Amino acid sequence: MIPPVTGPRRRWVSRGAVARAETIDDLRAMALRRLPRFSAEYLEGGSEDERTLHGNRAAFDDYAVVQRVCRNISAVDLGVDLWGRRMALPFGIAPTGFNGLLWPDGDRVLAEAAAEAGIAFAQSTVSNATIAHVAGVPGGRHWFQLYCYGPDSVWETLVDTAQAQGCEALVVTVDTPVLGNRAWDRRNFAAPAHLSLSARLDILRHPHWLWHTVAKRGRLPGFPNLEPFAPEGKRDLFGISDWTRSNMRLDMDWAMLARIRARWPGKLLVKGVLHMDDVRAAIEAGADGVVLSNHGGRQLDRALAPLHAVAPARAVAGPGFPILVDSGFRRGADIVMALALGADAVLLGRATLYGLAAGGRVGAARAIAILTAEVRRAMQLLGAPRVADLTPGIFGRGPGL
Ligand SMILES: Cc1cc2nc3c(=O)[nH]c(=O)nc-3n(C[C@H](O)[C@H](O)[C@H](O)COP(=O)(O)O)c2cc1C
Repeated sequence: MIPPVTGPRRRWVSRGAVARAETIDDLRAMALRRLPRFSAEYLEGGSEDERTLHGNRAAFDDYAVVQRVCRNISAVDLGVDLWGRRMALPFGIAPTGFNGLLWPDGDRVLAEAAAEAGIAFAQSTVSNATIAHVAGVPGGRHWFQLYCYGPDSVWETLVDTAQAQGCEALVVTVDTPVLGNRAWDRRNFAAPAHLSLSARLDILRHPHWLWHTVAKRGRLPGFPNLEPFAPEGKRDLFGISDWTRSNMRLDMDWAMLARIRARWPGKLLVKGVLHMDDVRAAIEAGADGVVLSNHGGRQLDRALAPLHAVAPARAVAGPGFPILVDSGFRRGADIVMALALGADAVLLGRATLYGLAAGGRVGAARAIAILTAEVRRAMQLLGAPRVADLTPGIFGRGPGL
């Protein structure tokens, strides 16, 4: 048998221009080279034994696709409709916090790359930019993701601000009533909000990151949307993260979601749903869609891969109800599979973050371009030139079906 070509003969592209990145894994290698350890760990890691994290990737192996041949695939259309509005590609960018730690002004940079590609960008509550700053991106499809901390007045203010800034959708994340147990992350801290000495020394070994992210601005990025609510003396990056941890709304329930629904006049997505009874509850609460998600393996360990929830959720919700899915998507074929199982669109978490961390706006655009090309090629090879052609019929008799 010929041994596989591995080891020193095969390497990810981890240096140089992001244009050299062939895959999301190349962008990941570039990102991990550029970032200091504590920031790379925050980006990469999952909770506890990272079973959920790895399970998200493994889930795709439960399905196999079968190509149909001799179909005219000269005109491929990757567009999807969401709430009667077209999105140029069948994926958008998931909400992620601390983007300013990956690249200066990371939230706005991601939003610009998304707008350029004609896709949605979801801004996190723990983003490092104001809602207004991201709303200022021309041509953007801007969603705001809500975490509830402290008294109701905090989420009420955030919701009102998102409305005033013209956000299309509010994405209420419900899988984070407490923070996932991320010990690898905590190991970089000597005490809450205090990086360990070795993590600080490691920063010095990443001068490009240090200069652009901290030194040039004179301080670490903050959380401007939460600053007004955090106590005096706790309004810097680590202070507010600490404040959010101790002010999480353990009492969040469907009644609270109904109150948010009543206040928010735009589209409402409930993110972090995996159980079919919760899909039903979200519909009953007046949601305009759900995001099937396990938070990219960062919350409950040993959670179901959201890919496996897509077909059951479609059966429960029926046709026409928007179902989005995220967690583990790194390849165009992954996206194609989720669409075929019944999702309307996929949200990208780390895939675009790797691009951002590797090269800012150009890097994020490179991640989108790589996945666009991969989705297109997979659809052509499958003989399915339109998203509507992606049905369960593309699957062979893999163990998942
Ligand atoms: C670094 C990082 C930060 C995140 N921050 C948030 C957040 O602030 N709000 C939220 O709803 N989800 C957050 N998520 C979860 C993502 O929205 C998404 O569910 C997840 O990244 C999808 O998995 P993937 O990274 O494997 O694509 C975060 C994920 C990552 C990787």
